[in-house]
Amino acid sequence: MPLTPTKKIWMDGELVDWDDATIHVLNPTLHYGWGVFEGIRAYATDRGPAVFRLTEHIARLYRSAHLYLMEPAFTAGQLVEATREVVRVNEVESCYIRPLFYLGYGEMGLNPLPSQTKVSIACWPWGAYLGADAEEQGCRAAVSSWQRIGNNTIPPTGKGTGQYINSSLAKVQALKAGYDEAIMLTPEGHIAEGSGENIFVVYGRTLVTPPLVDGALAGITRDTVMTLARDHGYEIKEQSLNRSDLYLADEAFFTGTAAEMVPLVEVDDRAVGTGKPGDVTKTLLAQFKLAVTGQLDQYKDWNEYVRD
Ligand SMILES: Cc1ncc(COP(=O)(O)O)c(C=O)c1O
Repeated sequence: MPLTPTKKIWMDGELVDWDDATIHVLNPTLHYGWGVFEGIRAYATDRGPAVFRLTEHIARLYRSAHLYLMEPAFTAGQLVEATREVVRVNEVESCYIRPLFYLGYGEMGLNPLPSQTKVSIACWPWGAYLGADAEEQGCRAAVSSWQRIGNNTIPPTGKGTGQYINSSLAKVQALKAGYDEAIMLTPEGHIAEGSGENIFVVYGRTLVTPPLVDGALAGITRDTVMTLARDHGYEIKEQSLNRSDLYLADEAFFTGTAAEMVPLVEVDDRAVGTGKPGDVTKTLLAQFKLAVTGQLDQYKDWNEYVRD
């Protein structure tokens, strides 16, 4: 999806013009993929933009950094404030936000430890990641022949930049075959997740999602939807799923910050349920939209406003 430039990008404590936010071609992160990042959204509310679960996203960024032995010179609290500042100065009402820890220029080779950890935070307006129609019509996915990375290859619990080659291989394969999204399996054949989304199936009033041990990222949208669903009286199970569990589900959907909540209406050319977005998915999607835009008092701590 094309980028829409905004005015400023926060780089190591300074607001830099969008066009000047560049790094050297010999930056080691570019060569070896040793970096970590977050994907966050801010939504328009009647109190101005609110970043959704910002503190938790920044906490996950630091957990990713810990996995990759990266030590930024800023605290999590400072980056929460920097993120709010970036959204404010760019005068956007809603946007996608991308904090990144990357290696500084000056060292080369497979040992990242001598390099400094640098930090940038950018934001830009970004529409529906799986297409403008996906929310209404649902999307079509295929199980990928690329397996999801595992704990002894590259830890799937982190958001390391290089690990997304695995996701991109699956995404490209799915797009070239005419699908909207890929579903990745573990080597044992358990469903892990989409290329950039967690996955849920619905049977009656029960929601099932793969456990983290099956290579799913601890998605913040996953947790949001689980919380909303539990509070609406649905049963939630985290249990391993096989591909046929998807084919035979009443409903299925993806969750993720970029994708938000998208009904999954077809898997491997088989209709899921009626082949249309189902009622449980639609109910939870409506609640999700109210929650992110600060219209549900019960979850107001999730809305972190950029103006005091
Ligand atoms: C591989 C992967 N799985 C799942 C997700 C969904 O996570 P979240 O809801 O925290 O954005 C993402 C996006 O961050 C992702 O990259």
